[in-house]
Parts: sequence; structure tokens; C-alpha cells
Amino acid sequence: MSVFEQSEAIKRLPDQFFAKLGKRVQQLVKEGHDVINLGQGNPDLPTSDHIVKALQEAAEDPINHKYSPFQGFPYFRKAVASFYKRVYDVDLNPDEEVALMFGSKIGLFEVSQCLLNPGDLALLPNPGYPDYLSGVALANAHPVFMPLLEKNGFLPDYGSIAQSDLEKAKVMFLNYPNNPTAGVATREFYDETVALAKQHNFCVVHDFAYGAIGFDGVKQPSFLSSEGAKDVGIEMYTLSKTYNMAGWRVAFAVGNASVIKTINLLQDHLFTSLFGAIQAAATEAISGDLSYVDELVDVYERRRNVLVESLHEIGWKVAAPKGTFFAWFPVPEGYTSKQFSELLLEKAHVVVAAGDGFGKLGEGYVRIGLLDTEERLREAARRIGELGIFK
Ligand SMILES: Cc1ncc(COP(=O)(O)O)c(C=O)c1O
Repeated sequence: MSVFEQSEAIKRLPDQFFAKLGKRVQQLVKEGHDVINLGQGNPDLPTSDHIVKALQEAAEDPINHKYSPFQGFPYFRKAVASFYKRVYDVDLNPDEEVALMFGSKIGLFEVSQCLLNPGDLALLPNPGYPDYLSGVALANAHPVFMPLLEKNGFLPDYGSIAQSDLEKAKVMFLNYPNNPTAGVATREFYDETVALAKQHNFCVVHDFAYGAIGFDGVKQPSFLSSEGAKDVGIEMYTLSKTYNMAGWRVAFAVGNASVIKTINLLQDHLFTSLFGAIQAAATEAISGDLSYVDELVDVYERRRNVLVESLHEIGWKVAAPKGTFFAWFPVPEGYTSKQFSELLLEKAHVVVAAGDGFGKLGEGYVRIGLLDTEERLREAARRIGELGIFK
């Protein structure tokens, strides 16, 4: 067999962190261990019945057996616009300011292809969701990392970014509620972001993957609800987390019409749109009574409380996360993120994600997903306690 050399673009891709983590876990499960996997961001609960039923019905309709129209069915784009108006009081033109996509992972990748030339500069959070960097690397653009520090509430300190970088920046990726730090943002922070983007003429890409998941009664604002945000940016919204639809691969980008147009242009070359029945089911998910989303957020909030209380009981004094379904906890003294997460994996069979997988500044932390029952979270804490590290 000939072995063909990879393109330079592929060689530039960073390691796929989550793919690596999964392999060791599978091995332990195969060996018969009872592994509590809190390492990934894969929601554990099923999609609501009414959404599944909408898919089933739509799958029987022959209109959905054909290619769906380029850029998707207008009814889905209209539903997205109504959803944004209803939930975030943001006005969107469904034909010009909404692009449908196969999950936001590919969308975030596409944005770099759409806006960055080789050598261009992109501002990325560190720690951050790893795929921003993948897209930037494939485009052969240059990443400049914005530290997300606990002392700043895990928000970037815009004053500390070099002026020359701000002048050269073409794109800034942001994500609140934040993966991995669980930090949340305020309207004032977005106002500041809009002003900075206007001043330096870069595009803000706000990844709102955990938008619905805020705790203690605090509703998370959309980036687009800041005055002038549509002039300078877009927001990515996925159904994976809020609607337990990670396997369905459905998301959308909304906002700046010129960027949406470019995304749609690229997509016209890459694919026709999503399976029609998925579009029908996604429309069902975001229309009508959304109280089931609040119920899901309550589930995560209860799990958060159980995890934090149980960890306090074993002597690990962690602060409660404010949003997302992750907790971002400093590791005990004397351990690196990797050493600590490996210890938990090998000795307690509890999977957590080592913070350095999200960038250099994730060192010293682990990310724990609230993605199992309250009982299993308690059990995870008990097993960690038995290691005798915290007393
Ligand atoms: C911050 C963030 N953005 C985007 C995604 C991708 O989500 P999807 O491709 O399922 O829409 C994830 C998934 O883990 C995420 O955590």
C-alpha cells in the first residue's frame, strides 16, 4: 500500500484532545471497570419525545427524501428568527441573518475558512474550546491567545492585549457561558466587546453553545442583544446541549449579514442543507412551550449542588460554577492537571478532563462534567475522597 503524504494544512492541525481521552476510557470499560465518565461534553439525557416524534413524522414525508433546498427550509430559518426575538429580544432577518449548519463544530471551523487568509491574526480564549484553534490552524492564520483568568471572572482583559495585535486581528472567538471555565458574561462585557471590535474592525464570533444553561436564576444574555453587535459579529447556537440533541448535528449562526452570506456561500459548495426531517424536528424544539429547557437547567443546577457539596465533604473546597454543565476546579497542590486526572482515572475510575487540554492556561485545573445522575456524582466524589488527598 502506498502511504500518501498529508497536506500541509492537515499537518498543521493540533492533536484532537477528546479523541485521545476517549480511547483510554474505552479500554478501562472493556476491562470491566465501573467507570464514571465526567470527562466529555456529551449530554447524558435523551431528546424530548415531542422532538423525536416530529422527526418520525417528517421522515415519512417524501418532501424530506429529496435534497433539501440550499441554505435549508425557510420555515426553519423563520423559526430561528422568532426564537431569537422571543428569548433574547433580538431581531433577525431569516433570509439574510440566519445560516443553518450541521452542528456548531463545523460552523466554527467554517468561520475561519470564510474570514481568515494565511498569516492573518485571530484572537482566541485560553483556556478555550479546542476547535477554534483547529479552524485557525487549517486556515494557516496566526492565533493570539487571550488569557481567561479566575481573578478576572474568566473574562479576557482587553486592556492587556497588545495594540498591534488588536489592530491586526480579523476575528475574535468568544464563548459564554464558557467551556471549560464555566465563567459567564454580562451585557456590559458584550458592550465593551462591540466597542472594541468597532474600533479595530474585527469580527466577533460568539459561541453560545451553553446559552440556556445559567444557574442561580441568572439568565445569560445573547451577544447579539448588545447594541450594534450585529454590525460586528455573529453568534453560533447549537441544539446539542440545550435540547440534548448532540447526535442530531444541528445548529445555526445568526447575526452580521455579510458573514452569514459568506458562510452560506461556502456551504453551497460543501453540502446541500440538513436532512429535512432534522430541520422539522429542530423547528419543533425551538418553537412553542420552552419550559422543558428550564427543567433541564434545573437538573444541571441540582447536580452542580450535589457535586460541590459532596466535594466539600471530602475536603476539596471548590467554588460552584455559574453556568454550562461543567465545573472547572483547581487541582490540589503538588499535582499537574495531567497527573491529577490520570490519578482519578486509574485509581478511582472517574474520568475528568485535564485542564491543559484546553490550552496552556488550563494547567492547574480539571474540568468535570455534570453529565451523570446525582447518585453517580456523589459516588464519584466518594471515590475521589477515598484517595485521601484532601484531608
Ligand atoms: C463551546 C463549544 N462550542 C461548540 C461545541 C460543538 O457543539 P456541536 O458541534 O455539537 O454543535 C461544543 C461541544 O462540546 C462546545 O463545548
